[in-house]
Amino acid sequence: MTSFLTVREADAIAKAIRTRSDLQPRVAIILGSGLSGLAEAVQNAVAIPYGELPGWPRSTVEGHAGRLVLGYLEGQPVFVMQGRIHYYEGYTMQQVTLPVRVMQRMGIETLIVTNAAGAVNPDFAPGDVMLITDQINLPGMTGAHPLIGPNWDELGPRFPDMSQAYDRQLQATARAVAAEADISLQEGVYIGLSGPSFETPAELRFLRALGVDAVGMSTVWEVAVARHGGTRVLGFSGISNKANLDGSTLTTHEEVLEAGKILVPKLEAMIRGVLRRL
Ligand code: HPA
Repeated sequence: MTSFLTVREADAIAKAIRTRSDLQPRVAIILGSGLSGLAEAVQNAVAIPYGELPGWPRSTVEGHAGRLVLGYLEGQPVFVMQGRIHYYEGYTMQQVTLPVRVMQRMGIETLIVTNAAGAVNPDFAPGDVMLITDQINLPGMTGAHPLIGPNWDELGPRFPDMSQAYDRQLQATARAVAAEADISLQEGVYIGLSGPSFETPAELRFLRALGVDAVGMSTVWEVAVARHGGTRVLGFSGISNKANLDGSTLTTHEEVLEAGKILVPKLEAMIRGVLRRL
């Protein structure tokens, strides 16, 4: 039988973090592929490489710095993950989402997730920011779900509701920020797939038929665990490439990282604006 993590593992990491900083963050931010530059803006920062936190899974992907940064953004104490862990690296779904459990044990109320994503919606272009309005956890729907195993009763129910995975009030705040900063904000449904291969044209047409707007290899598991524990979630996809529905172009990780350079200033403006209004 698979061995499952328990709340004790999350508490041990939370304790290790507290020995490095006495900050009490209310908001956590997870920075996706090519987006980790945003952490440079954190003030009075204490940066902890994931490798210095026993039990914290380490990311092995280029473009993922692999540090936890605690400090202030717009006067808000924040917990910033500069790089995340992916299922395709070989970790279990529970390991991938352990950082969200650590946040919950540290008293964080709001999680802002970001990711790099491919546009399935033909109206989207690389460099666009998409407000995530809902998600499809396809691996979760077919048996690879981080909440499989004994329920963490201290944190949430066996069968958590997912009717409003992305908080409506936070979405309204994001729209107001975009309007004020004159950022054109796309909106849509994000699907998380295991990866690591990019999608075939037939898979992309399948996703389009499902009503997907953007596709990536993360986020949906973190959001399921966040909602289980009652954490409010706001999500942004940075569109790094157009989905290649007819097979005429290639998709590469370099392209994803390159788009991050255009996306970071926009996402920074969005996140700063939201933090100011919390
Ligand atoms: N597909 C899956 N994941 C991605 C993509 C994509 O096209 N772009 C960035 N992450």
